Amino acid sequence: MSKDHLSIDHVSMEFPLPAGGAFKALDSVNIKIKKGEFVSLIGHSGCGKSTVLNIVAGLYQASAGGVILDGLEVNEPAPDRAVVFQNHSLLPWLTAYQNVELAVKQVFKKQKSKAETREWIEHNLRLVHMDHAMNKRPDELSGGMKQRVGIARALAMQPKVLLMDEPFGALDALTRAHMQDSLMEIQAELKNTVIMITHDVDEAVLLSDRIVMMTNGPAATIGEVLEIDLARPRERVTMADTPEYNHYRAQVLKFLYERQRNPEARHAGGSSDIGKKPQAEAGATQADAATHAENQAAA
Ligand SMILES: Nc1ncnc2c1ncn2[C@@H]1O[C@H](COP(=O)(O)OP(=O)(O)OP(=O)(O)O)[C@@H](O)[C@H]1O
Ligand SMILES: [Mg+2]
Repeated sequence: MSKDHLSIDHVSMEFPLPAGGAFKALDSVNIKIKKGEFVSLIGHSGCGKSTVLNIVAGLYQASAGGVILDGLEVNEPAPDRAVVFQNHSLLPWLTAYQNVELAVKQVFKKQKSKAETREWIEHNLRLVHMDHAMNKRPDELSGGMKQRVGIARALAMQPKVLLMDEPFGALDALTRAHMQDSLMEIQAELKNTVIMITHDVDEAVLLSDRIVMMTNGPAATIGEVLEIDLARPRERVTMADTPEYNHYRAQVLKFLYERQRNPEARHAGGSSDIGKKPQAEAGATQADAATHAENQAAA
């Protein structure tokens, strides 16, 4: 891993308000990310995580500061930063294969022969274990399968940075666990730089090299950064019993539930994530699927 591959440099974001004036969503968000690093962004709903990701993607322009990727300023979307959204944005009239093909043709234009293009698309669908269903359309696929195709499409673009906005948020706990394992395997092989937004504390600890915890908005910024120094490959069941894993997990929970309590929960008694006590801390030994379900319900 070399230094300063991706720099999110003192990024602030103001959205204009319809009645005039502006809403300051982000205030001086500053992160430097190394090549091949897996960074998770975690924080309460509405704090500004997607805004950060959209600025890195080039979909939003920061009001102040900027994003530098390999020495060049980012100011528009480009295939070197592929995005995976929560609800798999596949084109419904195309098959899984054709959805990936569309992205591959856009990125590689005429650089690959017909045979090479086909091989590359199939290779990426194999990586996410979707080669068996590549001729199916999105409405013939389950949520997890659609999400796999979305990931294959992003990987097939050979992006420098993979940006994922709650990629597994809509999936059931078991599918989610399976997808996390696949993502860890793929990342071990391809060494992509990844920024992933999540509401799931276990997901963040299991997958990340660093967890960036954001303060509540308005004017959200980075509250704490936690280095996850756990050996890879990481195996979820063994990991759940280790003191190190539980220590990291508790650190994130403390940040979210004690240092940055959900602003909505304070007013409304908390239907989201954040109103609850850090139950999961006490439940760290519960079955993995149960804790994932809890975190998912929390989000
Ligand atoms: N296009 C926009 N125009 C105006 N305000 C916006 C816009 N996009 C986001 N915001 C505001 O900026 C803040 C941060 O929003 P953002 O979507 O980044 O939050 P988030 O952390 O991703 O939340 P969630 O976890 O619910 O997805 C919110 O207060 C939101 O209302
Ligand atoms: Mg969001």
